Amino acid sequence: MKILLINGPNLNMLGNRDSGFYGSKSLNEIQEIIEEKAKYLSVDLINFQSNHEGEIVEFIQKNSSLASGIIINAGALTHYGISLRDSLSDSKLPFVEVHLSNIYSREEFRRISLLAPIALGVIAGLKFKGYEYAFDYLTNYLDQKDLQ
Ligand code: DQA
Repeated sequence: MKILLINGPNLNMLGNRDSGFYGSKSLNEIQEIIEEKAKYLSVDLINFQSNHEGEIVEFIQKNSSLASGIIINAGALTHYGISLRDSLSDSKLPFVEVHLSNIYSREEFRRISLLAPIALGVIAGLKFKGYEYAFDYLTNYLDQKDLQ
């Protein structure tokens, strides 16, 4: 099983961003935690981060045919990235949308997600734990362990 773990704009700066919203772990630390879980389950995890929507679109286009699912924190692209949404939709892969912060308790513009309507599910506000829960859910879902 291959899972793509995608992080969008500014998430490379985790650790230096507002810890009240995002926690204090760096993106590397979060990726290592998920990599550990993936190793344990013999899941092939591909990490990708970019600050550019087009690069994320290209990554999805190139990698989706060999992948089973996606975990994505699209950062601000969540709220306006139509080409990102289209590429996720075109991939036909199940994906879980993750946000470190609770986007529903912040500014109005963060409450709109273009991705949520086509996501398998959304996890927001649980800091780095959201990535772990997304991984657990998606791997279970893909194994068809009583969740489908
Ligand atoms: C975020 C929430 C977005 O609104 C914001 O632009 C981010 C991070 C989150 O993880 O809480 O960069 O996706």
